[in-house]
Amino acid sequence: MPVLRLDRMLSGQGIGTRKEIKEILSGGSVKVNGKTASCSAMKINTEKDEVCVNGSPLKYKEHVYIMMNKPSGAISASDDPRTETVIDLLPQSLRRPGLFPAGRLDRDTEGFMLITDDGVFAHNILSPKKHVEKEYTAVIDSPVSEEEIYRFENGLVIDGDFKCLPAKLRLLECDWSNGGARVLITIHEGKFHQIKRMFKALGHEVLYLKRTAMGGLRLDGSLLPGEARELMPEEVDLITSGNVEVNR
Ligand code: URA
Repeated sequence: MPVLRLDRMLSGQGIGTRKEIKEILSGGSVKVNGKTASCSAMKINTEKDEVCVNGSPLKYKEHVYIMMNKPSGAISASDDPRTETVIDLLPQSLRRPGLFPAGRLDRDTEGFMLITDDGVFAHNILSPKKHVEKEYTAVIDSPVSEEEIYRFENGLVIDGDFKCLPAKLRLLECDWSNGGARVLITIHEGKFHQIKRMFKALGHEVLYLKRTAMGGLRLDGSLLPGEARELMPEEVDLITSGNVEVNR
């Protein structure tokens, strides 16, 4: 039975710090099953008890899953004294303790960043063994050949000794006004600078990189860079239950 102390339950849901929660409780703003609750140590059954804060029922969630359109410049970390992190960009309404970015995008990479407090889920989507595809669009400095596409699909060797898992590469357009060629890449693993290193191994430079999908879930096109929203349970399932159709 999921039983938690009232103050822990409220802070875990992002209602406030432990100190703020003490104040909220002593101000009489919290009701449990219709009765004002002022004792921080009160035991709450998260499945059965109805908790209201300032008159609004609190829907208990064990974990949250947030999609961010990561902007270039923010780093994929929970906390950094010098640089803005993806967690710093979250609006107050989405914040709660324990959130972290599931996986890394380079500072200059944009796009789909999953932020969660569910370590098991994060491990599952990042493990190459689980085969959750990560799709990226990139602009590279020169077009790719058929032979290079074949090498991507057969496990490219990077840095002389590391053999990547088979990856998909598709040339979308040659865009010389923009510096080179726009390509679509799909990989299953996430080694440090993996895509940049894969292209470097073929003599190309990545000029722009954006993650556009994880598993079967595409980046929400209405999210501007830096914006984030909570995912619905069926969207979370899509990440692990299939891969996006590439139809361009
Ligand atoms: N590969 C890279 O090189 N950088 C990223 O940010 C993600 C994948």
